[in-house]
Amino acid sequence: MNQIEVRVEATRLLTPLVREFTLSALQGRLPKFSSGSHIQVRLPLGERPLRNAYSLLGDPANVSTYRIAVRKQDDSRGGSAFMHEQIHEGSTLTITPPANLFSLHSDARAHILIAGGIGITPFLAHVAELERDAADFELHYAYRHGLTDAYRSELSERLGSRFHGYDGEYARLDITRVLRGRPLGAHVYVCGPQQLLDAVRDTARALGWPDGRVHWEAFSAPQPGTPFVVTLMRSGLRLDVAYDQSLLEALEANGVDIPNLCRGGVCGQCSTRHIAGDVDHRDMVLSPSDRATHLMPCVSRAHSTSLFLDL
Ligand code: FES
Repeated sequence: MNQIEVRVEATRLLTPLVREFTLSALQGRLPKFSSGSHIQVRLPLGERPLRNAYSLLGDPANVSTYRIAVRKQDDSRGGSAFMHEQIHEGSTLTITPPANLFSLHSDARAHILIAGGIGITPFLAHVAELERDAADFELHYAYRHGLTDAYRSELSERLGSRFHGYDGEYARLDITRVLRGRPLGAHVYVCGPQQLLDAVRDTARALGWPDGRVHWEAFSAPQPGTPFVVTLMRSGLRLDVAYDQSLLEALEANGVDIPNLCRGGVCGQCSTRHIAGDVDHRDMVLSPSDRATHLMPCVSRAHSTSLFLDL
């Protein structure tokens, strides 16, 4: 996977939980990106480096720097705490080029953007793009005042009546009211915690929205499970996967690199053939028949103590 070395030009604490980082290329120029893109940041945490995905929140028209925002997670495996506590102006980081799994649909007649907490980040780039296109859009933002409401004031001022804020997370966000009666050709985009994604998708389905007009993105750390051993049948390698480590991370830590984009079980890039073992499938892309032969190592684990892969 291509890598880019970047320098941290500035950091800004937006709320006690959210810190913004401005990154510039150490050499040459940063690649262009489209709104909704994300990068992976390599976090050198001792023997168990992590790669976390973060949305690019700047205006895609300006690629002199990239901006990302990181929410400090209490149950973090150390990645977000590392970013908040160890990364300062002048630090260097390794990132991947931008990839987009959450792009705008240019043929949409109206765009309804729904963000929960740090899920606001991809919408900052989308808003810049939609404003430039004079598109019909509105932003619904659920947050906890003073904690997860990064960019709220700026967006509220900038968007006026197109901005709808909901303090207290999701309790005040009436998704049915937001989605009901929309014109044919409207698209909804949601980014935030799983609970919000599920609620928007379920509500849209119940109101008769076609799946193709409902778009979502979630970046969540792989959920822990019991440790297991994985055997790579072609190379004969046997690897331990720790309780708080993903199978993908265990493979990478042992020099086995496989393609990946989202690291959250949604893009399908890391699909790998399994040969034996009881797979604990946790992805959101494979069909039941696909699951009989393949798994997504970025999120999936083993119910059994061992797993055998076609690698
Ligand atoms: S990296 Fe996207 S599904 Fe695994």
